[in-house]
Amino acid sequence: MRGKRILLIVGGGIAAYKACELVRLIRKAGGAVTCVLTEGGSHFVTAMTLAALSENKVYTSLFDLKDEVEMGHIQLSRAADLVVVCPATADLMAKMAAGIADDLATTLLLATDKKVLAAPAMNVRMWQHEATRRNVARLRGDGVTVLEPDEGEMACGEYGPGRLQEPEAILAAIQTQLSVRAEPVAALPLATSPEEKDSPSTSSGRTVEGRLAGRHIIVTAGPTHEPIDPVRVIANRSSGKQGFAIAEALADLGARVTLVSGPVGLATPAGVDRVDVETARQMEAAVAAALPADAAILVAAVADWRVEPSAAKLKKADGPPSLSWEQNSDILAGLASSDQRPRLLVGFAAETETVVEAARAKRDRKGCDWIVANDVSGDVMGGDSNEIHLITADGVESWDKASKHDVARRLADRIANALA
Ligand code: CTP
Repeated sequence: MRGKRILLIVGGGIAAYKACELVRLIRKAGGAVTCVLTEGGSHFVTAMTLAALSENKVYTSLFDLKDEVEMGHIQLSRAADLVVVCPATADLMAKMAAGIADDLATTLLLATDKKVLAAPAMNVRMWQHEATRRNVARLRGDGVTVLEPDEGEMACGEYGPGRLQEPEAILAAIQTQLSVRAEPVAALPLATSPEEKDSPSTSSGRTVEGRLAGRHIIVTAGPTHEPIDPVRVIANRSSGKQGFAIAEALADLGARVTLVSGPVGLATPAGVDRVDVETARQMEAAVAAALPADAAILVAAVADWRVEPSAAKLKKADGPPSLSWEQNSDILAGLASSDQRPRLLVGFAAETETVVEAARAKRDRKGCDWIVANDVSGDVMGGDSNEIHLITADGVESWDKASKHDVARRLADRIANALA
């Protein structure tokens, strides 16, 4: 993060003490921090503490700015690379959503032309209240990245989502926003507040090793085999290389990866949980068992049809068998419409004609967020390189031909950005 400037707005809540830790982590990672302490925030932490930790002036009211000859509030918000609101209280987010500018913090938020990241912290009922849900949705729609709060025991004694994410996780989100690859940060002892007790879900769930730390991602890869009899199968032509490379790249960024693989001859990438399956129905069940997940990347070439396999080996002398086909469920489309739909759902489309058009239609039909399309009329199946088109709601990006590992790393980077 060397050279990056963060404008940190500290809202008023018991979790404000964690903002101090965040300042320390940003400094340790090489970033510069300018803090703005709201009136509410000043009841929980002092400007002196933030100034000492950031080694920078702390702004506490609009009056401060009137003293500044060179730096009006617009400049203050524009000099930053990223604006971070931590903790983002229900009140602060309501004002942000409504465009209210009645103090320094909200004025800066309205005046900024930079990306804004909000780390909410509040009582579980406030977080779940329809008004807050509406405000969060509005903010996300406006392009603000609103992190999901952690779940756990709260200062008020209630239990549920609403706790501020740990500072290490917020730092990782900041790095993702800045598109800076996270360097491992040694776990630092956190100041504990008597009011906010530790919960197992947060103390063990998040690590700081990568931008996808704390995320669970399902990847399917390889073909499926649909048996005809004990020795014969209907198979798809897929080596599994691209799916395995994606699983590896996601694990490298710190994600917990469940790789559901059809029959392939590949070694399991380091740090990946692998579930081996044979048929489409087994793959579907393994994916369902692995839920919930933050994202699912379905790379597998799933057989669209199956037959009722014969218990005994079919004999050549009996002539070509007449097979009675049944349709397999579409795992991708099923996930897209399920209650447990991952936040990011990515499908692959191996096409031989009108690649982009066919893939666009497939994205609409299946209800996924992205489709990674490739032309498989050449030597892609089993080969080591791939030339893909990434189809999202924003349009089509055509990537230069690259090794399957490079494609995987680039895609993993995009996934980390999308989940930030
Ligand atoms: N897929 C799936 N379940 C199926 C078939 C496909 O989850 N039963 C997923 C694949 O993993 C891939 C995407 O859907 O991510 C597209 O697969 P593809 O075989 O290209 O799509 P189909 O629906 O089978 O369309 P087509 O008739 O063009 O083959």
